[in-house]
Amino acid sequence: MDNNEIREKLVLALDVEDINEAKQLVNDLSPYIGTFKVGLQLFCGYGLEIVNYIKEKNSNFFLDVKFHDIPNTVEKASYNVIKNGANFFNVHATGGIEMMKAAKKGAMDAALKYDRKKPLILAVTVLTSISQEVLENELSNKKTVEEFVIQLAKNAKEAGLDGVVASARELKAIKKALGDDFVVLTPGIRPKWSLKDDQQRIATPTSALNDGADYIVLGRAVTSASDRIEAIEKIYQEIKEGI
Ligand code: C5P
Repeated sequence: MDNNEIREKLVLALDVEDINEAKQLVNDLSPYIGTFKVGLQLFCGYGLEIVNYIKEKNSNFFLDVKFHDIPNTVEKASYNVIKNGANFFNVHATGGIEMMKAAKKGAMDAALKYDRKKPLILAVTVLTSISQEVLENELSNKKTVEEFVIQLAKNAKEAGLDGVVASARELKAIKKALGDDFVVLTPGIRPKWSLKDDQQRIATPTSALNDGADYIVLGRAVTSASDRIEAIEKIYQEIKEGI
């Protein structure tokens, strides 16, 4: 894999408290990172303030706020997400097929109207914080987590979404059931040398990419490093050696 191909696959989670720190991260790391992910923390603090900053660096903007509402509301929200410059976003697959179709419709309408590139819409299946026990006892669902993940991924495909967010543990099963074209974005990535933090189902960048991940999410392994450029360069090296 060359540097451009690696850059396309790397997503950096901008999980920071301060907008200036987020801007600093974009500034320093955009030569290495194809997509920056803004989650609820930064979004609730500063809205879409960082979007233009990311666009100037020629990186994708992934709004990770996981819509889950009635179809009409999700359609309108998805329209505005694309109108305002994001080109990746996600919804909860448990919102149902009609809701996911509505997300796609809203996003495509805005992309057409504002001449944006085709949006990439991903579904969140089962949050990794939901255990088998919670699925059974609190949510009265008798399936195994993996069976439920696959069912929800199939629903997402039927609704016309591009793929799912899934841990490295589910990656192969999803590709097998849904096909190689169905995009999988994998968080919980830890290079060989980094701390596990609070993540349970982790994988190295190389093993996730070898198992078929289309995008891998880097977070604290890079953002908490004392030298972030050195950390990302080590990740590039690790990927090049392993693939
Ligand atoms: O710092 P770390 O690498 O653990 O960050 C992972 C990022 O991926 C965070 O933004 C987290 O919210 C997100 N994520 C995750 N597990 C999921 C879905 C998203 O860690 N199942």
